[in-house]
Amino acid sequence: MSNTQAPRLPGAAPLVGGGQDVFYAYSNIVPRPVITRAKGIYMWDEDGNQYIDASSGPVVSNIGHGNVRVADAMAEQAKQMDFAYSRVARHGPNMALTDRIARFAGPGFERVALSSGGSEAMEIAVKFVRQYVLATGAPERRQLLTCLPSYHGGTIATLGMSGDDALSGFFDGFGMTSHKVPAPLSYRLPGSHTLQSYTEFALAALEAKIRELGPDTVLAFTVEPVGGLATGCVVPPVAYFQGIRDICSRHGIFLIFDEVLCGTGRGGKFLSAHHYPDALPDIVVMAKGLGSGYAPLGATLFPASLVDHLSALTGFNFSHTYNANPITCATGLAVLDEYERLNLIDNAAVMGRYLKESMRALADEFPVIGDVRGQGLLLGVELVADPASKQSMSPEFLPTEKIRIHGLNNGLMLYSRRTAGGRYGDWFLLAPPLTITKDQCDELLRRLRATLGDFFEDWSHETSRNRSETEPALPD
Ligand SMILES: Cc1ncc(COP(=O)(O)O)c(C=O)c1O
Repeated sequence: MSNTQAPRLPGAAPLVGGGQDVFYAYSNIVPRPVITRAKGIYMWDEDGNQYIDASSGPVVSNIGHGNVRVADAMAEQAKQMDFAYSRVARHGPNMALTDRIARFAGPGFERVALSSGGSEAMEIAVKFVRQYVLATGAPERRQLLTCLPSYHGGTIATLGMSGDDALSGFFDGFGMTSHKVPAPLSYRLPGSHTLQSYTEFALAALEAKIRELGPDTVLAFTVEPVGGLATGCVVPPVAYFQGIRDICSRHGIFLIFDEVLCGTGRGGKFLSAHHYPDALPDIVVMAKGLGSGYAPLGATLFPASLVDHLSALTGFNFSHTYNANPITCATGLAVLDEYERLNLIDNAAVMGRYLKESMRALADEFPVIGDVRGQGLLLGVELVADPASKQSMSPEFLPTEKIRIHGLNNGLMLYSRRTAGGRYGDWFLLAPPLTITKDQCDELLRRLRATLGDFFEDWSHETSRNRSETEPALPD
């Protein structure tokens, strides 16, 4: 340990142990509530305060909390057969779940590798394509392309793939990183770009990077079809998807969609890729909503042709102990049963449209909302000092922290982010469980209006305080 004189954490950190949040930044000026109970879209803390889980945690709790059918399926599986290792045994829940996911995903995604979350699922995609090119005689393909900004996970490899300039110090001489190309932004477009010209620019930059590296050296291009934690729900235009599909096909590069956050029905279709049937990726990575918070579950979806070809050559040689854990598989199956029983994907489309329209109306009321964007029940709301200039708020004001706190005071659990030092704005996610009803949307909107009112008042005090500090004092 290099420094034993670290200052004590403010707030509620105990001398020993503490929750996961003792590792997070000191700017957490109000401690997170201790949650003791959750049901549907609601959560309660130890003092009995109720919150709407307005972002489903980090876009996880798609089927809502406290689902007894899923809890029963988990318990039944644990009692029946808790564990069987996939290197030495097969089991029904594994086969039933991969069959079900493949049927939801449709043609092109017949094979499914299961894992314990998004980062692991993403690494499985990368390890698979690397092993595939080694087995098929193209070992020089080893370069990975991803977007700036982007987020692909928290392991060292997937952090290296993530596009965040603030990580350059972390990776300086350490770990593997990918080559970055511009992400398809929609709000903070540099210079005088329009959406169309910026899309063309992003596609040209991808093509140029591939030519610079040498097309035969590039292994894969990974992109989030709806931006997640790095951009706050940017939805690229259709032309972008057609463009990247064309570029990757022409150069023999694998196109991987990272649907960890936006997939599993969030956007109103099972896969975000289903919005672009003429530009399907080669591989899709999923997690979050697939286990819906009940079990850590990730999935990497491949075409049968690829997997069966590699199996006939070397096989895919990498696994984790908890791949296809029976209890996790039974959970995933029960979650997908609930998707069908409750018609959650259609509900995401309908309620998403309603929430987005209502949010846009709220934006007219509160001049701290710069943008409302997203797809289905995955919406990003960007907070700005001035909607006309898109000027961000000062970081000292801690806008993402303030909106979180005002949310809590008004019965909302909001996930808010400032990434890459604020270069892509301050925003919060509006992504409630897909079970939400119209009445519950209205209740959420009422609480959000109160939250934004308090936030706006806070911001107005801040701006008038700053103005009085900078204005010269009047002579006596
Ligand atoms: C787009 C995307 N990819 C990958 C990940 C990593 O998933 P996990 O946190 O389950 O490892 C995340 C997590 O937020 C994500 O949003």
